[in-house]
Amino acid sequence: MPYPVHGRSTEVVVDTEVIVHNVRLLRSLVAPADVWAVVKADGYGHGDGDVARAAVAAGARGLCVALVGEGMRLRERAAIPETTPILVLSEQPEAELDALVRHRLDATVYTVDQVTALADAARRSAVGAVSVHVKVDTGMGRVGVAPADVAALCDAIDADDVLRPAGVMSHLAVADEPDHPGTDQQLGVFAEVVAEVQARGGAWSHAAVHVANSAAGLTRPDAHRDLVRAGIALYGISPSPAVSAAASGLRPALSWVSKVSFVKRVASGTPVSYGWTHLCEAATTLATVPVGYADGVPRDLAGRGGVVLIGGRRCRIVGRVTMDQMLVDVGDAAVAVGDEVVLIGADGDVAITVEEWAEWSDTIGYEVVCRIGGRVPRRSSVGAVEPRS
Ligand SMILES: Cc1ncc(COP(=O)(O)O)c(C=O)c1O
Repeated sequence: MPYPVHGRSTEVVVDTEVIVHNVRLLRSLVAPADVWAVVKADGYGHGDGDVARAAVAAGARGLCVALVGEGMRLRERAAIPETTPILVLSEQPEAELDALVRHRLDATVYTVDQVTALADAARRSAVGAVSVHVKVDTGMGRVGVAPADVAALCDAIDADDVLRPAGVMSHLAVADEPDHPGTDQQLGVFAEVVAEVQARGGAWSHAAVHVANSAAGLTRPDAHRDLVRAGIALYGISPSPAVSAAASGLRPALSWVSKVSFVKRVASGTPVSYGWTHLCEAATTLATVPVGYADGVPRDLAGRGGVVLIGGRRCRIVGRVTMDQMLVDVGDAAVAVGDEVVLIGADGDVAITVEEWAEWSDTIGYEVVCRIGGRVPRRSSVGAVEPRS
């Protein structure tokens, strides 16, 4: 069940004009390759429907998701037409395949069992041929057919005319570390597999070849091939400290804001929050912000240097973040209940970025935006406030 909104003062705001800017920029950077927008995990926490529509309007030729249910939402709720391919990036449980076929989603395959089950589902639904992309494990070590088994997998696909070869793909493990030799190694293996598959002729010679994620899209023109599956770059977030989104002109689309819910003046030595891990060093003003770890703020963010913006100033989070609230030391500034708090985003010239959050929490920007909780309402610049679901 989606959470009802009830005017919660905490919200995520996504600027879909920025998504449009980022997609156009990515297209120009990777041309003549196409951009397919990766909108799994609710558009990396940004809202998959609005992001998908903005991306397609800006020229993304296809979309990628992780689950059949995510693809269904795009077709049904976001009205993404069947002319825009939606690729499900991994093999799916057999029970999901009828829905995959009915919603005209492209399937990723890497086992003969999945090929057989998919062909059965395609015959049952009688909606015509299903597009399949063969995923090869060239070194990611997660899923995919081994290069030595690609020929047998293609044979199985060719044996059934309800399956249409649409792609040959792989996924890069270390593209976000541009100096790592692993990407050259993976691209070398992939090139050999692609040559072998294309030599089969027929539909295989037109199947889309794709291997690049955002990091490779930004740093490895030799990996662009026919299309780039761009996720994190679409949202204007850096794939890693070594591959900067901002340096390429990409802009962050997401802001996370709240409002001060309580203010008090406290004496020097006042202990704060669970465990009394923080004692105020001097008399100061504490502002309570009604956002907590249940919304995706790490419990120990204060200890890791976390700040928020209040009145355009960076103010320290103090004490343990609790489930629904956290405390901010605003010093001697005049702060009142209802004042805006920026957790992520800009206030005038000052900004707090997803990349900073990632550094504080010792993780990557992907995790910061994906873990923003389901009870935080999301508003896009084109739509009304929506409960997350
Ligand atoms: C198979 C595949 N392709 C592309 C992407 C997009 O990666 P990125 O967000 O780094 O662009 C992902 C994301 O995890 C993925 O799993």
